[in-house]
Amino acid sequence: MTTAELLRRGVDLLKSLPDCEPFLEARILLRRAAGLTDLDVFAYPERPVSSSVSRRFLRAAEERSRRRPQAYILGEKEFWSIPMTVSPAVLIPRPETELLVEQALAFLTSAEPLIIEIGTGSGCIAVALAKELPGACIYATDISRRALAVARANAFRHGAPNVRFFAGDLFGALRGLVMEGRADLVVSNPPYVSAKEWAGLAPEVRDYEPRRALVPGPTGLEMIRRIARGAGRFLKPGGRILLEFGAGQEVAVLRLFGSGWKNPATVDDLSGRPRVLSASR
Ligand SMILES: C[S@@+](CC[C@H](N)C(=O)[O-])C[C@H]1O[C@@H](n2cnc3c(N)ncnc32)[C@H](O)[C@@H]1O
Repeated sequence: MTTAELLRRGVDLLKSLPDCEPFLEARILLRRAAGLTDLDVFAYPERPVSSSVSRRFLRAAEERSRRRPQAYILGEKEFWSIPMTVSPAVLIPRPETELLVEQALAFLTSAEPLIIEIGTGSGCIAVALAKELPGACIYATDISRRALAVARANAFRHGAPNVRFFAGDLFGALRGLVMEGRADLVVSNPPYVSAKEWAGLAPEVRDYEPRRALVPGPTGLEMIRRIARGAGRFLKPGGRILLEFGAGQEVAVLRLFGSGWKNPATVDDLSGRPRVLSASR
């Protein structure tokens, strides 16, 4: 089979998938399966492809046709222009979450800030901040030890020795570290999808991404409520919390930060949707 014929077979497998650009996705899978560049694909479409490459590519395209997310097939997703290793143990980093990194960098002025991240997953936020702020000391936590193994791998892969990882339920992960009153920033993209919303999500998300990374409880606000109650004692005076939340949660989230916090406000993402809560100690 030639490169062009194989690509066509891939496009055929993917063309009925909703929210999928079949040519683009097939090309990405082919590049990975065959170790080709776009130049190889476009300039030499008549070149024959070995049977092992064909098998590898068609297996990947079939997996994708069963709605498995491309990032899990490739084992990688870019975040903050950094290729993050991902596995089904972690949420696939979303481009919208880069707003948390942007806001954190805009707020932090000290060269050696102390940052706590709750629910680090793949470690994408912690690693992005660590790369931008080599003098920072970052404590990244997660309840999932399997997720923390992926996060550690990303910190190692991208040379971020200034991130330390701790397992546990929210701030319980920091027990014994005497962190109270010391952090400049608490940052989190917590699970915030309600059980009802989760049932209606695309199969790529509902059937493949870890439910615990998405759903904190029936209403979707359970984790944010706990963070609003628990984060304050870890911040130094003037320290800040930055938290991603879901569509339609703006009023409820502002209310949760209405007492015990200063200047609660939301920040819109590029599409104009309020996405990040910011509040000070
Ligand atoms: C929405 S994901 C965010 C992952 C990553 N920070 C990102 O932005 O892509 C939420 C993360 O919180 C973790 N998590 C869920 N419940 C938790 C809890 N009670 N304590 C700590 N982490 C928790 C999940 O395992 C998951 O990795």
